[in-house]
Amino acid sequence: MNEVTTQPSAAPVIQALRSIGYNSQTAIADLIDNSIDAKALNISLEFSYNEGNGSIKIIDNGKGMDDKELQTAMTIGSKDPRDRRERDELGRFGMGLKTAAFSLGKRLTVVSKKDSKVSVRCWDLDHVSEKNEWLLYTSIPEDISLSFDEIQGINGTVVLIDKLDRFCGYGTKNIVKSSSFYSKVNRIQKYLELVFHVLLEREILIEINGNQLLRWNPFLEGNPRCYEGEVQYLQLNGKKVVVTPYVLPHPSTFNKKEHREAGGIKGWRDHQGFYIYREDRLVSFGDWFGLFPKDAISELVRIKVDFSNEADEEWKLDVKKSTVTIPEDIKEALAAIAKYYRQLSQEIMLYRTRASRTGEKVKGSLNTWELQSDENISNYVLNRNHPVLMHILKELDDGVKRKLNLYLKLIELGSPNNLLKTESMVKQERQTVDESQRKTIIEYAEILMNSGMDASLDQISESISLMSGFESIEIHTIKDILQKEVDASVKF
Ligand SMILES: Nc1ncnc2c1ncn2[C@@H]1O[C@H](COP(=O)(O)OP(=O)(O)O)[C@@H](O)[C@H]1O
Ligand SMILES: [Mg+2]
Repeated sequence: MNEVTTQPSAAPVIQALRSIGYNSQTAIADLIDNSIDAKALNISLEFSYNEGNGSIKIIDNGKGMDDKELQTAMTIGSKDPRDRRERDELGRFGMGLKTAAFSLGKRLTVVSKKDSKVSVRCWDLDHVSEKNEWLLYTSIPEDISLSFDEIQGINGTVVLIDKLDRFCGYGTKNIVKSSSFYSKVNRIQKYLELVFHVLLEREILIEINGNQLLRWNPFLEGNPRCYEGEVQYLQLNGKKVVVTPYVLPHPSTFNKKEHREAGGIKGWRDHQGFYIYREDRLVSFGDWFGLFPKDAISELVRIKVDFSNEADEEWKLDVKKSTVTIPEDIKEALAAIAKYYRQLSQEIMLYRTRASRTGEKVKGSLNTWELQSDENISNYVLNRNHPVLMHILKELDDGVKRKLNLYLKLIELGSPNNLLKTESMVKQERQTVDESQRKTIIEYAEILMNSGMDASLDQISESISLMSGFESIEIHTIKDILQKEVDASVKF
């Protein structure tokens, strides 16, 4: 076979690399990944406007690079994406540093210090384009003011991007105003607070223009009203995927400010869906991946999905680390989990109830109905601690109080939702009376009898058989149950 080495032409390749689809948020996040991979604990970002001739600087106290390592780092495609990465490592394609930087501006200068020795490299795309050659500077260009002292310890790295044509219109007629420059910086801050929230819970500190980043946890962990579902472990080609579903509390439980904050950068409705984490770094969020629509009544569901960097291939992680595809093998399982929790969200939204963990009650909640669940069955019960009800009960004597409580119990048993559920069970099991129906029948009869009403066994049986959900049960079956089960002391 005949062959000839063919070098790609520098200028067009560089231009193409600038346009692989980063936005300023995903670009900055990718640069921070590098600092985290270098084990930095302090990462400081400086955005300066300088009348449109500004710069973005990222200073970290990570392990730094020596001259050879920096030369490799500045090479386009410095690592093979197929190589096995260290556990926890956020990098993948050996492209991020260059492509993320070039999506913001035309010049990338890196100063790195390892064991107190400083190394420098700088790509200036104007220079590369002009010469149409891969010419990399090995010193800091004269018009850049960058001091080696910015790295305080013996190790660390400064990444400086300027000639910010993409970020703020440098060198064009459309230089952005200082106010839009800084509101862009603000949005970047909010994005980073979400994307790195797990890492920010550890010892890593990140600041932007002197403001410390505060983690924003989309699952409102710590909010006692937030419902954390059962953790599920899925297998994907022998690699573990951990799924943790969350259902947020009903909007009425928040004050205005809390509600806005819990809505996040995209708003409540757009924040529902899967949150996919790779090595504790969020790569995709608020997306049902086409499995479900984003409807308002499902907006309380946010499902955390964790995978490790060994499974990048399966998830089809992209260069920007901002999109993934759900692997076919686990699609069905994820859809089933999502379906269940979406249903829960819908119940909470429609019935203004809260999902209470077994036996847990909220004192003074304003919801009239609450959902009570154990592993097998969930039922709506009235909130007996509702402040209005408490107030009424206080004014009643014991006899009337008893009657009112019995009546409330009847309302619970006859609630359309509880009955509808029983009806669907009847449909499945035709003539058989299941345990939950049996319980309902007995409970209902006992209440009627204890209420002091002079009802006969026939009357009670008939009234139960007329209740929706019990139509398919013969009256004599109901009578049999009552005769056998209801307290022998009660005489019909
Ligand atoms: N802030 C940094 N500190 C130390 N090393 C870095 C830093 N940024 C980049 N590097 C080195 O440069 C290499 C290339 O980075 P990058 O182009 O983002 O690709 P990747 O992160 O996929 O390896 C990294 O693997 C790392 O060795
Ligand atoms: Mg990287």
